[in-house]
Amino acid sequence: MSRRVALLIWIFLHATLAQDDPIKEDADLSTVELIEKYGYPGESHTVETEDGYFLTMHRIPRPNAKPVLLMHGLLDSSATWVMMGPEKGLGYWLYDQGYDVWMGNVRGNVYSRKHASYTPDESEFWDFSFHEIGIFDLPKIIDYVLEQTDNTDLHYIGHSQGTTSFWIMGSERPEYMEKIKFMQALAPVAFFKDSKSPPLNFLGATKLSSTLLLQMLGPNEFLPKNEFIETISAAVCDGTEFGAQLCSNTLFLFTGFDQEQLNETMLPTILGHAPAGASTKQILHFGQMRSLNDFRKYDYGPLENQLRYKSLLPPKYKLENVSAKVGLYYGQNDWLAQPADVTTLYFQLPNVVFKYLVDYPKFNHLDFMWGIDARELLYDRMLESMRYYENEQMIN
Ligand SMILES: *[C@@H]1O[C@H](CO)[C@@H](O)[C@H](O)[C@H]1NC(C)=O
Ligand SMILES: *[C@@H]1O[C@H](CO)[C@@H](O)[C@H](O)[C@H]1NC(C)=O
Repeated sequence: MSRRVALLIWIFLHATLAQDDPIKEDADLSTVELIEKYGYPGESHTVETEDGYFLTMHRIPRPNAKPVLLMHGLLDSSATWVMMGPEKGLGYWLYDQGYDVWMGNVRGNVYSRKHASYTPDESEFWDFSFHEIGIFDLPKIIDYVLEQTDNTDLHYIGHSQGTTSFWIMGSERPEYMEKIKFMQALAPVAFFKDSKSPPLNFLGATKLSSTLLLQMLGPNEFLPKNEFIETISAAVCDGTEFGAQLCSNTLFLFTGFDQEQLNETMLPTILGHAPAGASTKQILHFGQMRSLNDFRKYDYGPLENQLRYKSLLPPKYKLENVSAKVGLYYGQNDWLAQPADVTTLYFQLPNVVFKYLVDYPKFNHLDFMWGIDARELLYDRMLESMRYYENEQMIN
């Protein structure tokens, strides 16, 4: 090979390598691959729920340390806690501070799409809401973590739907509350009176029954057609190129965004991991919470409600039975967990030890995981609270 050819090859290789954008690559990595790429140990675990769903959990293992379970929100996955890298991600931060970090994935998302009898191509697979996540997925995940780590309780941190399903677990399976050392609720969701989320308000305002909507949207995975997205997206697109990248993404349609706390460099990674999958029924149940302005089981319409629940309206969830010790964290600019709605929840839960408004007026629904300053604004305080409630129990 002549020197000239070798030189050309050298230049070619370097030019290609230089084009490789490390952040772009992260868009294609799984949760465990991300964790390992950043030099942390990563594990995958699978459990089967009572009703046949196989759920994958991810872990940054620290054997013999106190376990903390992180539960993602709607259309999201375990990747949410680690994709921002070790400087920012809550998953790494908790591990660095001495915890055994477990991250769940609920039925229907990219890591939990296997079932004993159905495939995701069948409607039966998607016949669930966050009700089933609360009564089947969370209890199974919690039991598994406690068994694997030989603990009797764990720390729970949930974001958005990761809080909604927790309240449902407390209402329907209150025996699980004893297994929670301390529950920290980020952007807690149970009431939507003040919701500013365009698709949620659209679903809440429609006079169509959920049964009809389910037929129209398809009783399967929530993959809205372009007309639906276009109707909604005007509210999210703000005319900037930054907004244009987000306004067709179903997750951002629900939550909006906060340009100052969202790191633009990370957008390819974020858009590579979200939306991660949810059922249409799950979305409609959120819409019902908005239209009924209450926290109730899924509304099948008066006839079927009578058969299933023995009442015309679906029963209310029993928030008074959520006896775990709870801390609530919320943001002023959160379209889905507005301060007034968090206050309503605060007065109905029996064991809230504090509610904390993040000290930054633009803090939005997704900033809890991805905000540039989330550590300073939020994580330091969360960690302090975890330590406080651990020691309190030791003194008692
Ligand atoms: C945004 O992300 C990039 C890539 O991880 C990082 O280098 C940069 O420091 C981040 N910017 C801020 C303001 O955190
Ligand atoms: C649920 O709450 C009600 C009302 O406070 C109480 O009477 C009942 O004992 C609770 N049940 C459980 C299992 O905690």
